[in-house]
Amino acid sequence: MKKIWIPLILVTFFMPVIAFADGRADYRANCASCHSAYPNGYPDFEKAKAMKVSQKKLALSASEMSRDEMIAITEKGKGAMPGYKDKLAKDQITGIVDYIISAVKKK
Ligand code: HEC
Repeated sequence: MKKIWIPLILVTFFMPVIAFADGRADYRANCASCHSAYPNGYPDFEKAKAMKVSQKKLALSASEMSRDEMIAITEKGKGAMPGYKDKLAKDQITGIVDYIISAVKKK
């Protein structure tokens, strides 16, 4: 009888995560391979070397771009980075950028 509470508690606990997970899921699917699993993580050295960019350039936590600039780069691409204009919907791109900003925000 007591067991019935466990799923209920889990659902309540993860509800906010589920509701805002889109940007994160899209980031994981499209950006993590180059920019590391989390936007505030440290990108892979070999990966950066293969693309002839510094690790810092791939570290989104080091980016000084505004939200609009990040959206523009994500749409158009730059250097070794492909553009996502035709691959992702506009609200997916803004969702990813908002996720990045919230993940790297300095407190
Ligand atoms: C194939 C690897 C690759 C993938 C996948 C990729 N990027 Fe990039 N990204 C790069 C590289 C390389 C740069 C550096 C470009 C340059 O300045 O030469 C970069 C730069 C950026 C920058 C600019 C950072 C700064 O301040 O200079 C942003 C923002 C960014 N990427 C966001 C994204 C997002 C969002 C996604 C997923 C939708 C993504 N990237 C997917 C390789 C990638």
